Amino acid sequence: MTDTTTLGGTYPLAGEFNVKRMGFGGMRLTGPQIYGPPADVAEARRVLETAMEAGINHIDTSDFYGPYVVNDLIRETLKPYRGDLVIVTKVGARRTPDAGWHPALSPEELRQAVDDNRKRLDLDVLPIVNLRVFSREHVPSYSPIAQQFETMLELQSAGKIRHVGLSHIVAAHLEEALRLGSVACVQNSYGVLNRHDDPLVELCASKGIAFVPYFPLGGFTPLQSAALDEVAAELGASPHQVALAWLLQRSPNILLIPGTSKVAHLKENIAAADIRLSDEQLRKLAV
Ligand SMILES: NC(=O)c1ccc[n+]([C@@H]2O[C@H](COP(=O)([O-])OP(=O)(O)OC[C@H]3O[C@@H](n4cnc5c(N)ncnc54)[C@H](OP(=O)(O)O)[C@@H]3O)[C@@H](O)[C@H]2O)c1
Repeated sequence: MTDTTTLGGTYPLAGEFNVKRMGFGGMRLTGPQIYGPPADVAEARRVLETAMEAGINHIDTSDFYGPYVVNDLIRETLKPYRGDLVIVTKVGARRTPDAGWHPALSPEELRQAVDDNRKRLDLDVLPIVNLRVFSREHVPSYSPIAQQFETMLELQSAGKIRHVGLSHIVAAHLEEALRLGSVACVQNSYGVLNRHDDPLVELCASKGIAFVPYFPLGGFTPLQSAALDEVAAELGASPHQVALAWLLQRSPNILLIPGTSKVAHLKENIAAADIRLSDEQLRKLAV
């Protein structure tokens, strides 16, 4: 299908996996509130298949999407996995039947979560597992993570995880973790209309660490910006595509994992990798 797209080129994730910068976030392949099965299971499977056909080789997921729904869909749809596919999962939360999210960050819970993800994804070794640092606030704040990170390093030494990443963190978390081991990637909320983490993007770039923004399309808050609309109209593109193109041009260490439950949106998002924003358009978006 999209054999003209470059998928944004490649990036050596964790120094080991040559992933396309345009990846896919699996969280939307669920029911409302990221709980239960998606309304259209067949379409969800087609989304995963279409991502593979397009050459995407980086998928973000977690047992806590559904819970288990997305990992089950990935396993059922994509096994046997293509050799270059890098499935990145995450631990640190648990779900309750009211669709609630709760921290699950004790050593025992982290060990169990890694084993559960290995089982659900049917992978002996998980390529990358993000330690998702829990906070009730929308914006993360610092609290020590040494104990949790050391548990992840133990699981790495045990051969269950190849690399460890961090999610929902501040710079002090990254610095603390880097005193203990290496960090494959940082996954935080970030995008053209949400630039709180500009310094963290730079810090990661300076250390050769991938920055993988979640909510690249605004997440639960649909993108609304006159500047985005204006640039999109100039390019004959959608505001979503401009938001993704902006991220690809923002820094070479940024990898995209936009989420969608629809093949049409997936194709639109993939095509964004071929959009080049001019200096003037970047200036318009720098507000
Ligand atoms: N580490 C963390 O704490 C964390 C938190 C949240 C998410 N994540 C990861 O990050 C990924 C990305 O975040 P996200 O999926 O929450 O948010 P997102 O990518 O910013 O946006 C997804 C939303 O945008 C819609 N959408 C996608 N493409 C579109 C298009 N071309 N046109 C119009 N609407 C479009 C989707 O609806 P449709 O389904 O209708 O397309 C969905 O409602 C997730 O899938 C997940 O893997 C990680």
